[in-house]
Amino acid sequence: MGAMTKKGSQLERLARAAEDVRRHTDRVPKVALVLGSGLGAWADAIDDRVVIPFSEIRGMASSGVEGHAGNLVLGTAEGVSVVTMQGRVHLYEGHPPEDVVFGLRLMLHLGARTVIITNAAGGIGDHLDVGDLMLIEDQLNLTGTSPLLGHNEDALGPRFVDMTTPYDGELRHLATEGARALGFEVKSGVYTGVLGPSYETPAEIRMYRTLGGDAVGMSTVLEVIAARHMGARVLGISCITNKAAGLGHEVLDHADVQEVAAQVRERFVSLLGAVLRRLL
Ligand code: HPA
Repeated sequence: MGAMTKKGSQLERLARAAEDVRRHTDRVPKVALVLGSGLGAWADAIDDRVVIPFSEIRGMASSGVEGHAGNLVLGTAEGVSVVTMQGRVHLYEGHPPEDVVFGLRLMLHLGARTVIITNAAGGIGDHLDVGDLMLIEDQLNLTGTSPLLGHNEDALGPRFVDMTTPYDGELRHLATEGARALGFEVKSGVYTGVLGPSYETPAEIRMYRTLGGDAVGMSTVLEVIAARHMGARVLGISCITNKAAGLGHEVLDHADVQEVAAQVRERFVSLLGAVLRRLL
């Protein structure tokens, strides 16, 4: 990405990106989805979809991580107007926090007021098993940074953002009901967002457990801060792909994470559908 595209305020940058999106579609989305490991293909099933490669949107950074495509997709899912990012960028790729959240901000700028954010995470809490879906009830931002550093864009949101309700209780309730109607239970817990890209040490996992973390992963927390800044409500769902370091018997491997994510995919997708139907 050239330096020029980054010049100017966040608002100008969003306006430029929105202009690029508006060349393809005038759809106003209601729900924005951020799809984590293994879920990117969900966007291929969106009806009436318009697929815009990140490379065609000025200001969008794209990810090089395996399993993360790079498209903005708008369309209809379960009758709801949606926008989603296939793939996301992570801090550990070296992107600054404002680039990590740019796609999310763009989706909100296009009109979405509800965010569904998904990820793969390691399970810390004893109540979590590999293959579980966990509704995120709160988060620990341990990345050491924030997307709100520097000048505040008052038109986007306040300087000091209330984070008392990072994840919306009503949306969690809808998801719990949706899962129950589909015949499975979802778990609940606190997501610990870390920088990565190395997996954690067993000592770090003991620390996160002491701090109140139930799951750990390398995404989501900055996006949730940016979403709350812009006043959107958030549903967060983690797919527990492994026991966190030191709690299982195996070494951690991205291929295993992807494999479990793929196994859980069908259940995850059915849950997304159930939630969207309840948002109609
Ligand atoms: N740690 C961090 N990120 C992860 C993990 C983990 O154990 N599993 C999936 N993403």
